[in-house]
Amino acid sequence: MREIQRVGVVGAGQMGGGIAEVAIRAGLDVTMVDVTDEAVAEGVRRLDASMSKAVDRGKLAEDDRRSARERLATATELEALEGSDVVVEAVVEDREVKARLFGRLDELLGAEAILASNTSSIPIVTLSGATRRPDRFVGLHFFNPVPVMKLVEIIPALTTSEETVAAMRSFSERLGKSPIIAPDRGGFVVNALLVPYKLDAIRFYEAGYASKEDIDTGMRLGAAHPMGPLELCDLVGNDVTLMVAESLFEEFREPRMAPPPLLRRMVSAGLLGRKTGEGFYTY
Ligand code: 3HC
Repeated sequence: MREIQRVGVVGAGQMGGGIAEVAIRAGLDVTMVDVTDEAVAEGVRRLDASMSKAVDRGKLAEDDRRSARERLATATELEALEGSDVVVEAVVEDREVKARLFGRLDELLGAEAILASNTSSIPIVTLSGATRRPDRFVGLHFFNPVPVMKLVEIIPALTTSEETVAAMRSFSERLGKSPIIAPDRGGFVVNALLVPYKLDAIRFYEAGYASKEDIDTGMRLGAAHPMGPLELCDLVGNDVTLMVAESLFEEFREPRMAPPPLLRRMVSAGLLGRKTGEGFYTY
């Protein structure tokens, strides 16, 4: 299997931008694609802000920042991804949108290229079926904020080859991440355990048992979590948590996985968390 050097990222949002950032910082050539110039520009702006923070915190040398930045190309057309060794998809959590995208990527890319999805809620095997390369299709799930969180879940579908898994393992390590192999079932490993906890915290707050500040402080100081569960909902985005909860509930039908009414109402009201400036807290 050839070494991965040319990486495509589709989606310049929080996750796509983060994946592009860790790849250019690891010395790989990245083309990041989104549908509009505005979306691309916003993604690049976030990536630059994150790299500046890394420089300020002494995590990245100024020279390395400059050379990393030269390895980033952007585009609004998928054709720019021709010649990629791997393409990581991080677009909206919509099965139809993703399946259509993967169908097009399958036609554009060379036979050896690997297609990977950063989905947190869609079964990998249902996406691999949209391509003629189900053996070179895999889930590759990053965590927010991508430059800081060390984990990557590699999710082989029933159809994924061992070679593809091995290639993703070395790719993840090249990005400075520690990969785990996760099952292609709702929530993979981390969200299957983390999301019911976050939902419990929302129900606890909704029931009025404690203030949001006390819930978060409780888990930060009492369990040494870097963030409390409600702060974490705001970081991840309440829309994302809702979508993952819905997919977990659809798969397992367990009450603890059912989205609480408050979460649904907050998403309907546009209170998505940090990205809209308001969620459980105001930013
Ligand atoms: N590049 C490199 N390093 C960076 C960086 C960047 N852009 N930004 C921050 N850092 C480093 C800092 O230097 C610092 O490192 P140090 O501990 O060695 O000094 C560390 O990251 C923490 O940064 P800050 O001091 O700026 O920020 P905080 O201490 O407030 O931590 C946080 C912020 C990292 C977000 C922390 O609160 C945290 O880990 N929260 C939990 C995040 C989490 O659980 N994420 C998973 C969500 S689930 C998910 O994503 C799955 C999806 O499917 C929903």
